[in-house]
Amino acid sequence: VENIMLSIVELAALLSLSKERVKQLVNDELALNPGVDIQTGTVWRIGPQTVRKLMAARNIRFPARKVATFASFKGGIGKTTISTNVAVRAASLGAKVLLIDLDPEACSTNQLVKSGGKDPIIFVDLFRENLDIRKAILPSSYRGLDVVPSALRNHSSEKIVAGMNPKRIVKDKLEGLDYNLILLELPPSFTTLTGSAYLAADLIVLPCIPSVYSLESVALTIEAIDSLAKEFEVPKKEFKVLMNEYNSARVASQQITKELLDTYKSMVFPFYIKESTDISNANNAGKSVFEIKCSKAIREDFHELTMQVCGVEVTQ
Ligand SMILES: Nc1ncnc2c1ncn2[C@@H]1O[C@H](COP(=O)(O)OP(=O)(O)OP(=O)(O)O)[C@@H](O)[C@H]1O
Ligand SMILES: [Mg+2]
Repeated sequence: VENIMLSIVELAALLSLSKERVKQLVNDELALNPGVDIQTGTVWRIGPQTVRKLMAARNIRFPARKVATFASFKGGIGKTTISTNVAVRAASLGAKVLLIDLDPEACSTNQLVKSGGKDPIIFVDLFRENLDIRKAILPSSYRGLDVVPSALRNHSSEKIVAGMNPKRIVKDKLEGLDYNLILLELPPSFTTLTGSAYLAADLIVLPCIPSVYSLESVALTIEAIDSLAKEFEVPKKEFKVLMNEYNSARVASQQITKELLDTYKSMVFPFYIKESTDISNANNAGKSVFEIKCSKAIREDFHELTMQVCGVEVTQ
């Protein structure tokens, strides 16, 4: 079993320091506080608390709060895979993360929350009695990552939120929450609830797989969200496009990537998530790519994506 905590090599890259220097810093932390979240053995592992502290000491910080979502009207293009991996990685970097699952299939809830209890409060339940969102928040199996769970009955969300202002439904519930990253996990549909989630997001990442249908869906999704934002007088959203299931040996991957770059230019992330059985195996095991045997390149892509989605900044 792989360890989700960072290795010295990963931490050295993150801090732009040599391995030797990082080992020294980690040793200093251990000397100061022997109970700290650092494992020393054949391989050293550094936990989120220490990672966050060492990052902050070099002025590398998470913004106070960022709301992000992975969106597509087309299903099965990797939204859930990507958001769960980003959530887990962000937490192991020391970010405080909340994933709000609004998908009735509840795949990410099932993956991240292993001890959910029988009948959890889900997001739309908050509107029946105007409950505070904190009533629905559950700890996940990962330190630093909390989840607002979903369940099949989320299907009837439209009845509950009917007539409500999409500008308010999701946004108002997030007010006052203390998280660096809030991820909204959505089904591939355009409803009052998902519309409200798009309006509440600071960043909308559009995954695209090598198929013309997926390419068309990127354009449609942007168009629909833009017009929704206009209708409700919300400032234009920040969009990013992410190539998923990239396979350099396939012509379709190259064609679709070229189309994306021609159309969306700098909106396209300069890295891809590759097509890999490591990723589907991790999903099937209910784990992130950081917990199973997985190629280093794939982990690096998810790491880079996580840094971008969190909006990690170097300050003075
Ligand atoms: N980069 C990848 N390499 C290999 N398999 C992948 C990759 N990304 C996603 N998959 C697989 O594709 C399938 C769909 O992924 P996922 O469930 O994340 O998509 P989704 O967009 O959330 O779907 P839905 O619209 O149904 O919610 C899953 O079986 C997943 O394991
Ligand atoms: Mg999904």
